[in-house]
Amino acid sequence: MRTHHCNEIRSEHIGETVTLIGWVNSTRDHGGVIFIDMRDREGLTQVIFRPDDSQEAAKLSHTLRNEDVIQITGKVAARLKTEETDSTNAELATGEIEIVATTLTIVNKAEVLPFQLDKELSNEDLRLKHRYLDLRRPRLTNNLRQRHLITKAARDFLSDEGFIEVETPILSKATPEGARDFLVPSRINPGKFYALPQAPQQYKQMLMVAGIERYFQIAKCFRDEDLRSDRQPEFTQIDIEASFVEQDDIIGIVEKLLASMFSKSRGVEVPTPFERLTWKEAMNRFGSDKPERRVGMELVELSEDLKDCEFRVFSGTVASGGVVKAINAKGFADISTGQIDKLTKLAQEAGAKGLAYIQVRGDDVSKWRSPFAKRLTETEVEALRTKLNIEAGDLILFAADQWEPACEVLGRIRMEVCSLQNLLEGNDDLDFLWVTEFPLLAYDEEEDRHVAVHHPFTRPLKEDEEKLRNGDLDGLRAQAYDVVLNGYELGGGSIRIHEADLQSSMFKALGISEEEAAVEFAHILDAFKFGAPPHGGLALGLDRVVMLACREDSIREVIAFPKNNKGMEIMTSSPGSATPIALRDLRIKSTYVEKQKSE
Ligand code: AMO
Ligand code: AMP
Repeated sequence: MRTHHCNEIRSEHIGETVTLIGWVNSTRDHGGVIFIDMRDREGLTQVIFRPDDSQEAAKLSHTLRNEDVIQITGKVAARLKTEETDSTNAELATGEIEIVATTLTIVNKAEVLPFQLDKELSNEDLRLKHRYLDLRRPRLTNNLRQRHLITKAARDFLSDEGFIEVETPILSKATPEGARDFLVPSRINPGKFYALPQAPQQYKQMLMVAGIERYFQIAKCFRDEDLRSDRQPEFTQIDIEASFVEQDDIIGIVEKLLASMFSKSRGVEVPTPFERLTWKEAMNRFGSDKPERRVGMELVELSEDLKDCEFRVFSGTVASGGVVKAINAKGFADISTGQIDKLTKLAQEAGAKGLAYIQVRGDDVSKWRSPFAKRLTETEVEALRTKLNIEAGDLILFAADQWEPACEVLGRIRMEVCSLQNLLEGNDDLDFLWVTEFPLLAYDEEEDRHVAVHHPFTRPLKEDEEKLRNGDLDGLRAQAYDVVLNGYELGGGSIRIHEADLQSSMFKALGISEEEAAVEFAHILDAFKFGAPPHGGLALGLDRVVMLACREDSIREVIAFPKNNKGMEIMTSSPGSATPIALRDLRIKSTYVEKQKSE
């Protein structure tokens, strides 16, 4: 239907007769002469309809509307460029030429669109309802293309490294990755449910026992959890597992894999190896296990300096084994009261009792605006000045609590300050790093038991193995690692337990009884008895990789048909209701009663 696409024709084609097919991107009427920008997925070409060249085409061109599908044939001509007028367009690849149309076929008319394609639209639901139109925008078309390039780069790289792509079941069994499962009722096994995989974790480990040695999969994963801009209920992992490897082997492969994906998409060289921080150091310095390091504002420890402070919030916390930490938001002393309140609220939502602050409105302490600064001794003030590098104009924010919550709270405040001060605007750097030595277990107050920080198949550090076997669960560290880019967790993985007895100790540590483990994880415990190789792996969140490669701030912008923030795919209205017959066949009765409007 075409001889060229809309981003192909250049000066060297002048004089040739060409045929294009695509959409009307825009129309302009210059005194009876119609100019059209024609668009296809590759770009734009200007087409001109003059009565002198074809009466018929020129007449028809007056009826064209944006987004009509048209086919044109015409001659390639140079755009007018004289001393007085320059109608060339340097911003357009085809900006030197135009097509003088001699025939025009309207292939399909378009009605007036529900929104304009050349304007940003804040109503996301409207965008998602007509996603097929939204995706016509060059930015989104390009995002899907980048996603393809990144996926292809991953497939090519892993395949070249000897990884075999294996598909694992979607109708599967629950695997503990920390979220709720999506369940699918089984018609032929009444009362039974499949779970959609939160990750192919157990299957890939079984493939290692099967001797596959190097596996990968571009795997759809499903997690019924609260949505965020970097979280969807349905997302894609680049899932990897390998046998006879140690942590450094997986880290090395993933670094090369990421470098290849960014080079094939964004065209940048990513330097390897990436820096590594232990979880403890990441928390201590940045208050996060996925630190954004492109801004400074590191957490400063002040417990020793403030342990005798007259301000009880500080001295009392240190006396009870806690810490006082602070950050210096440079040049932010003029923060508004409203903004301070907002930060305090955020700290409280994160579990803090408050957020002490000093607005450094001058060098002298008398100029410091703060609920407590007047109660500091000279020595304490000096310690703050030196350790926090305080200068007039700064804002100092404090957290006093046990070590981990204090770090976490300041970590969140740090990121909020970063966004209030627009510290990252226009920053195009890529800061990759590894966070290692995660804790193996965390204590869940609500459930009154330990839970796995990564998942129950993760191996402790060698020196902590005996402690796990003996049920001594305090401070165990894991051979688990996350790869982080610009404050986002891109991927996570671990070296696994491959011995049945160590796996049993782990289940025991998690409060899973032997009977329960024998039912729920029989396949794992059995498989580990028959010569399981040492193995480990990692999964990258493909959506997040593409989001960052495309400089987007939500993964919804790089997924063709994402769910909205209520978990709905609006275009097709899913989820939808099931017919009574379908429910009868599944032997399912809903207890849900739709609320009346008046309620
Ligand atoms: P984990 O749970 O850390 O590990 O997930 C790996 C990566 O998947 C991405 N991710 C998500 N992306 C979008 N929406 C979500 N809801 C979502 N949840 C996770 C993140 C994350 O880093 N089986 C292990 C991997 C392993 O141990 O090999 C796992 O799934 O980028
Ligand atoms: P108070 O003396 O309790 O009114 O608190 C004085 C200031 O200290 C207020 O700005 C509080 O927000 C702050 N504050 C209270 N508890 C803490 C805490 N644990 N860590 C940091 N700041 C706190």
